[in-house]
Amino acid sequence: MRSWKRAVICILTVLSGMLGSCASGSVPVKTIKIGVTIYRKDDTFIQSVDTYLESEVKKKEAESGKKIVLNIADSQSSQAVQDDQVDRFLSKNYSVICVNMVDRTVASTIINKAKKANIPVVFFNREPVEEDVRMWNKVYYVGADAAQSGTIQGKIIDNVFHENPDLIDRNKDGKIQYVMLEGEQGHQDALLRTEYSIKYLIESGIQVEKLANDTANWQRAQATAKMTQWIKQYGDRIEVVFSNNDDMALGAIDAIQGSSLKRAPVVVGVDGTQPGLEAVKDSSMLGTVYNDAKKQADAIMDLSYALACGQKIPETVELKNQHYVYIPYQMITKQNLKDYE
Ligand code: BGC
Ligand code: CA
Repeated sequence: MRSWKRAVICILTVLSGMLGSCASGSVPVKTIKIGVTIYRKDDTFIQSVDTYLESEVKKKEAESGKKIVLNIADSQSSQAVQDDQVDRFLSKNYSVICVNMVDRTVASTIINKAKKANIPVVFFNREPVEEDVRMWNKVYYVGADAAQSGTIQGKIIDNVFHENPDLIDRNKDGKIQYVMLEGEQGHQDALLRTEYSIKYLIESGIQVEKLANDTANWQRAQATAKMTQWIKQYGDRIEVVFSNNDDMALGAIDAIQGSSLKRAPVVVGVDGTQPGLEAVKDSSMLGTVYNDAKKQADAIMDLSYALACGQKIPETVELKNQHYVYIPYQMITKQNLKDYE
């Protein structure tokens, strides 16, 4: 073989080795480092996103033959702690950072730093304001359309109310007396679920009467405390408990089961977490709304991998307005529970 041919073959071999499985035209990357920071480790829904991220990384490693380091840091509900974690990821030259904001209104601080370091950012679950997301073309958000989850909660109640009004309207006054357990103040999911669940009922011609509403910060124990107080105050007048998530719905159920109420009110949640599904199964919860942690984790990982390799975002990731991925919610009741177990 002529020596120039040998040289060309040699160079091609070396180049293809460097490129590994990051497709042609992309930056050669040997190890991918993904830094994730979550607002709070003991949040049930976020825990399931983490679990799916971990398994998705293993899958991607096997597919690509690349080493992928996934570092998940807990901000313990402190924005200052989270900012430090981001600084550390940036200074250690991570390929991409994924941020579950403690305070979603201050994302611009993180974006500015990341932009300076040219390290892409994927926000998830706690949505920054649009103005911030649009600050840089390497900023993405993965989550779900919160209004849709509220609407589905309304539908769950509406369906039962139409089929069997007595099951809900116990005092037979033609109205639904309800209490609302809200997630953290200012969280897009708390605001929109609260609004759209009731909006749906009103728009479908059902009269509602709010007895009480308050935040329980997404947490089961806080919801038990709130619900215990409301049961004391309103007793059997409570017909429906709307809860912005399953953990708080379960907290309300704990309070109901520990009370002397003659009939348990109807409870609806959001998430479809494992304990949430069990509550639907044993009928202590009428229904919930599937918040697809797996698909959200898949999208976070597909985006992160492509960004780390400098590749185009794959078509499997459905981008809206260039920056957003919204995974659809789904209704879960006893009828279709099997599909989720
Ligand atoms: C989930 C909640 C969770 C919250 C955390 C929401 O989308 O429904 O269960 O606590 O996100 O940010
Ligand atoms: Ca009533």
